[in-house]
Amino acid sequence: MPKVTFLPAGQSEGQTVEFESGKLPYSEHGLQESLLDIAMHFHIQLEHACGGSCACTTCHVIVKEGKDNFSEAEDDELDRLDTAAGLTLSSRLGCQAVVKGDVVVEIPNWNRNYVSEGGGSMNLGDAIPNLKK
Ligand code: FES
Repeated sequence: MPKVTFLPAGQSEGQTVEFESGKLPYSEHGLQESLLDIAMHFHIQLEHACGGSCACTTCHVIVKEGKDNFSEAEDDELDRLDTAAGLTLSSRLGCQAVVKGDVVVEIPNWNRNYVSEGGGSMNLGDAIPNLKK
């Protein structure tokens, strides 16, 4: 049962959820059992302007613990991350990072600010092409 903790930037406490690998109903946003898929299942706000198709960077998170408990980043993700604001060596895209074990990730400040201002998802649907097709 992987445990996933989502931390607001700069804080040591956040929201922790657990799920059984292979049993999480797929939200159809991002890769199955990715951070975005898990966040959506548990109603945790994680931006995903392109709908989880690796075409934006709004789902950018910073891995604090459990770096090896994610799927390896593919070239598409690494290329997209290169365009992310506030990129770190521990950055991942929430829609592409599939969780395999216990992890702790930080959601960058701008995303948290957006949430505290009452924003909802900025899913643009078909406005951003799926580059993977
Ligand atoms: S939601 Fe757009 S790249 Fe992850």
